Amino acid sequence: MSMATCSESSFCIIVTTLLLSISFASAQQRAFFVFGDSLVDSGNNDFLATTARADAPPYGIDFPTHRPTGRFSNGLNIPDIISEQLGLEPTLPYLSPLLIGEKLLVGANFASAGIGILNDTGFQFLHIIHIYKQLKLFQHYQQRLSAHIGAEEAWRHVNQALVLITLGGNDFVNNYYLVPYSARSRQFSLPDYVIYIISEYRLILKRLYDLGARRVLVTGTGPMGCVPAELALRSGNGECDVELQRAASLFNPQLVEMVKGLNREIGAHVFIAVNAYEMNMDFVNNPRAYGFVTSKIACCGQGPFNGMGLCSPISNLCPNRDLYAFWDPFHPSEKANRIIVQQMMTGSVQYMHPMNLSTIMAIDSRV
Ligand SMILES: *[C@@H]1O[C@H](CO)[C@@H](O)[C@H](O)[C@H]1NC(C)=O
Ligand SMILES: *[C@@H]1O[C@H](CO)[C@@H](O)[C@H](O)[C@H]1NC(C)=O
Repeated sequence: MSMATCSESSFCIIVTTLLLSISFASAQQRAFFVFGDSLVDSGNNDFLATTARADAPPYGIDFPTHRPTGRFSNGLNIPDIISEQLGLEPTLPYLSPLLIGEKLLVGANFASAGIGILNDTGFQFLHIIHIYKQLKLFQHYQQRLSAHIGAEEAWRHVNQALVLITLGGNDFVNNYYLVPYSARSRQFSLPDYVIYIISEYRLILKRLYDLGARRVLVTGTGPMGCVPAELALRSGNGECDVELQRAASLFNPQLVEMVKGLNREIGAHVFIAVNAYEMNMDFVNNPRAYGFVTSKIACCGQGPFNGMGLCSPISNLCPNRDLYAFWDPFHPSEKANRIIVQQMMTGSVQYMHPMNLSTIMAIDSRV
C-alpha cells in the first residue's frame, strides 16, 4: 500500500497495520443470524418443554465436546460450518444464557426444531418457537444490541449481517403428510397447498427485510422422499417416495421464483435461493462419489433403513459417521453438511441463485 503521507517507513507500517486491523476487525464482526427448523437449530429446543429435541447421546458424538448440544447432527450443523468457513465464531442459540455482552455482536440462532412456515406446523411437538416468534425474538435481540452499542450502530450491524433461513420441510412431513387425511390435505390439493405456503413464506421474508436483514440465504427443501424415515415409512424397496418428491419438485422452483420476485421488488439481491434439493440429490444419487457407503440407511436409528422412530441411546449406531450421508432418520451427517456448505460457498448458479457465498463475501467486503 503506498500512501502520499508515507514520509517515514515506520509511520507507513503503523498506518498499514492500523488499516489491516480495522478491516480485520470489521470482517471478524460480521454478524450471522439463523432462523428455521431442526436442520439449523443449534440448541434452542433444549431450553423448551418440547418432544423435538436432540439432547441425549449419541447426538453430538463427533462434536468437539462429544456431548449432545441440541444440534440434530453427530457433530457440526450447517450454520456451524458456514461460520467456520467465514472465519466467524459459531452463533449461540438465542435462548442460551451465554448469549450476553460482546457475544451479541456475533449474532444469534433463533431456529427451533419442528417448526414450519405455517403456524400449525409442528403443533404435536408442543412448545417450540414458531417462525413469527423467532422474528419477535429477533426484535428483542435488536433492543438488547442497541442497549449495548447504540441504536444506529445496532441497525447497521443487522444490515451488514448474513442471515440464513431454512423452512418448509416440516410443512410437508409434519403437517400435510403427517397423517393420512390431515386437516391441511383435506383443505388443499398439493399444488394449492404449495402456492399457499409459498405466499406465507413470502410474508415471512418481507418481515425479515423490514427487520433489517439485507443478505439472506433462503434454503429450499431437500429431497424429502429420500430420507431414511420416509424410506422406512412409505417405500418398501428403498426408492424415494414419489409423493414427497413431487411436493419438493413443486415447492422448490416456486420458492426460487418468489425470491426473484422479492429481489426485483426491492431492487437488490437481498435474498439468495439455496438449492438444497440438488445439493442433497448429488450425494443421495451417487453416495460413493462423495465417500459414503450409503445414502439410504441412517447411521443412528432402528428398523428398515434405520429410519423408524428417533435416534436415541438404544438405537443402532454406525462406527464411522463419515461414511453415512444421513446421521439420523431425517438429518444429514456432519460430513454431508460439509458437502452442502461447500456448494453454498462456491457452487454454480444452479445451486446458488443469483450467486454463491464466496461471491457475496467478496462484494460485501468492498462496500
Ligand atoms: C401466524 O401467526 C402470526 C403471529 O402470531 C400472525 O401474524 C400470522 O398472521 C399467522 N399466520 C396465519 C396464516 O395465520
Ligand atoms: C461462485 O460464484 C462466482 C461468481 O458468480 C463464480 O465466478 C464462480 O465460478 C462460482 N463458483 C463456481 C464453482 O461456480
